[in-house]
Amino acid sequence: MIESGKTYVVMGLLDADSIAFAIGKTLESFGAKVIFTVQSERMKKIFFDRSKSLTEADRSSLDIRFCDVTDDQEVKTLFDGIDGAISGLVHSIAYSNPKTCLGEEFHTDAYDDLMKGFQISAVSLATVTRYAQPKMTEGGSVVTLTFASERAFAFYNWMGVNKAALEAVVRGLARRHGKDNVRVNAVSAGPVFTIAAKHIPGFEELGNTWAKSSPLSWDPKKAQGEVAGAVAFLLGPYSKQITGQTLYVDGGASIIGGELLPHEVN
Ligand SMILES: NC(=O)c1ccc[n+]([C@@H]2O[C@H](COP(=O)([O-])OP(=O)(O)OC[C@H]3O[C@@H](n4cnc5c(N)ncnc54)[C@H](O)[C@@H]3O)[C@@H](O)[C@H]2O)c1
Repeated sequence: MIESGKTYVVMGLLDADSIAFAIGKTLESFGAKVIFTVQSERMKKIFFDRSKSLTEADRSSLDIRFCDVTDDQEVKTLFDGIDGAISGLVHSIAYSNPKTCLGEEFHTDAYDDLMKGFQISAVSLATVTRYAQPKMTEGGSVVTLTFASERAFAFYNWMGVNKAALEAVVRGLARRHGKDNVRVNAVSAGPVFTIAAKHIPGFEELGNTWAKSSPLSWDPKKAQGEVAGAVAFLLGPYSKQITGQTLYVDGGASIIGGELLPHEVN
């Protein structure tokens, strides 16, 4: 699946529940070397403070660097500072001010917040790909995380707009970097109970009701591993001719009209 000994950069670590952490651990299980990133030096401390389940051995084995994706110089410094080639990059990053962009009301005049959310959640995929690509000397794969942007969810408001933009960025980058033998794809995950998700009003209810419209059982409390497996597939050699795509890893909810009938529920 993933070739042992290859190096992957996984961006977007907040705590041990982060989807990024599950992805990194899955890649390591295939023998890959993983470089994680957090947003800032301060966030690295927060990661260790929050991740109580990690042993001392776990902590010392992690290669965690910092990079704010809104700062081109930090992104450049991150990739310049990596020895040797990288085979892939995971962008597991998003932000939208919950007070102004994710409320009950869709309309907002918080234009600075809208722009910040758009930059971090969509544009930054292009920023990190731009600086990572020269390190993919033997080609590579970039994967980002998105959420059901084809539908309008209550509260998700402007993050839904950012996710639609992110998927368009995926297609633009796939077109631009095919000649570099670099593929770019998105995984559209169903709801996963992480810190970012907890900040989205109504998300817990959405997660708990997701099973009603997914033919496969979907557990938002432990879906990170399922999502990570699909990301590993898109990073590795079995997906060599796949680029510019959004792969749904959501228990099948995206193809269902209405709710499942009682005899269809697991
Ligand atoms: N949790 C879900 O239900 C779900 C579902 C589908 C897609 N996703 C997506 O998966 C990705 C990871 O989310 P998660 O649920 O693991 O939450 P998370 O909070 O663990 O991860 C989000 C990360 O984005 C980082 N970030 C925000 N601004 C940044 C900046 N300027 N520079 C660098 N990093 C920055 C945060 O520090 C955090 O590490 C996000 O793109 C999210 O939208 C999540």
